[in-house]
Amino acid sequence: MGYTITESAVQRAFKCFQEKKLAKAEKILGRELKKAPNDPDVLHLLGLINSERGDTLKALRLLKQAVSADEGKLHIKSNYATVLRQAGYVEESIGILKEVVRARPDSPQIINNLANALRLVGKLEEAIEYYRRALALLPTSAEIVNNLGSALKDLGDYKGALTCLNSALNIDPNNADIYNNLGVVCRCLNDSSHATSAFQAAVRIDPGFVLAQNNLGCALMAGGDRDGAINAFKNVLAVEPDNAEATHLLKALTQGSSDRAPDQYVADLFDEYAPTFEDSLVQKLEYKTPGKIREAVDAVMPQEGMFGNVLDLGCGTGLCGFEFKGISKKLFGVDLSPKMVEEASSKEVYDELHVGPIESYLEKCRVRFDLFIAADVFVYIGKLDQVFKAIAMTANDDALVVFSTELLGGAGIYKLLKTGRFAHSLPYVNSLAEENGFEAVSKFKTPLRKENNKWIEGMIYIFRLK
Ligand SMILES: C[S@@+](CC[C@H](N)C(=O)[O-])C[C@H]1O[C@@H](n2cnc3c(N)ncnc32)[C@H](O)[C@@H]1O
Repeated sequence: MGYTITESAVQRAFKCFQEKKLAKAEKILGRELKKAPNDPDVLHLLGLINSERGDTLKALRLLKQAVSADEGKLHIKSNYATVLRQAGYVEESIGILKEVVRARPDSPQIINNLANALRLVGKLEEAIEYYRRALALLPTSAEIVNNLGSALKDLGDYKGALTCLNSALNIDPNNADIYNNLGVVCRCLNDSSHATSAFQAAVRIDPGFVLAQNNLGCALMAGGDRDGAINAFKNVLAVEPDNAEATHLLKALTQGSSDRAPDQYVADLFDEYAPTFEDSLVQKLEYKTPGKIREAVDAVMPQEGMFGNVLDLGCGTGLCGFEFKGISKKLFGVDLSPKMVEEASSKEVYDELHVGPIESYLEKCRVRFDLFIAADVFVYIGKLDQVFKAIAMTANDDALVVFSTELLGGAGIYKLLKTGRFAHSLPYVNSLAEENGFEAVSKFKTPLRKENNKWIEGMIYIFRLK
């Protein structure tokens, strides 16, 4: 018979682990492991210690060994699945959690973990079903009600999410995370005043809550409270000095100068925006640029009435793809936001879609294009020199480039506006086109979309490679 670990050694180590005395816990467990190298409890706790330290690979190795040492210890399997999920192995984690839930259908925490993993891979309906099962077992868990509310929000059921989050707050009225989620749902429902007060409540409870401070900054910015917004973004930078969103928006509110919006900021912004993008931009803000661009291109179509390779830069959810599919032999799209690209993909109009920044895509690309489209995209890139250069390098003879910009009057070249977007001057765009070998085909002023019930003035340009 093998050596049996004394209960007290593991218990002592566990107590140290809970008190974050990781080195001490590890020392105790190291001694026990020498006596019994395959003890599941010791391996399990060592795995959790390494996970806490951020050494995920070592944690996963130890936890896997712990699971093999005793397949019957379901709490070990469940923790192994959690670390797998944190390390990005979400499908493996789901497989293990489903096994555990089958064996222990009465554990709300394990069912909640499974639902969290399902939500992470976008299986929202299934996640919601599991959250409901977990809640049937433990209706008073604010954490699970909060998770259910967030999953309903992801699914676009904002009313359902609102009800859930309000009941989560009834259970736990001092929970900053619930307030933040409530703010996001109110924002999705266009209820900016309740959104702002929910974000305010979240940061009152937890002033170091970066996500909520950024959300509050944006809400105050949209409501015209510049000083309040500056204060919120400064609070973010005090905790996370490199935070892309706060850095960019603070520049927008204070200096008005920058060369581009950070890629991470743009990707996060549009990932969140993706499910409601078309409803909010097209329906509410009367955005019609893709159609206007198509009309402008129709007026200068090549004789054969078709383009060969067409690239939609910053394709978003595919509104331009939809307009141009019929006149493109092969349609490509690239965008920074994975969620926008997912939406575009579901339209089934693109032959190829890529996630990433425009410039790096073009620099690596071997395809040569006959038409480039960029609708409402250059508003996130101030300095367009590299983009124009990369377009010229990947353009076939006579290729067309069509794009919209917000219009900067006066003598400037480009400017970061208080909205966090850029506007470009006519002389800057013209000189960039000229420098890169393009000639003007057409350009016209046009209202782009509404903001605070006023039209934003912009330009649509078409250039041809000489
Ligand atoms: C306002 S949306 C417009 C989407 C689409 N062109 C349309 O007209 O519906 C702007 C899109 O540009 C993307 N974007 C912004 N900067 C980008 C960059 N540097 N590289 C790739 N995509 C970018 C964003 O992720 C977002 O999907």
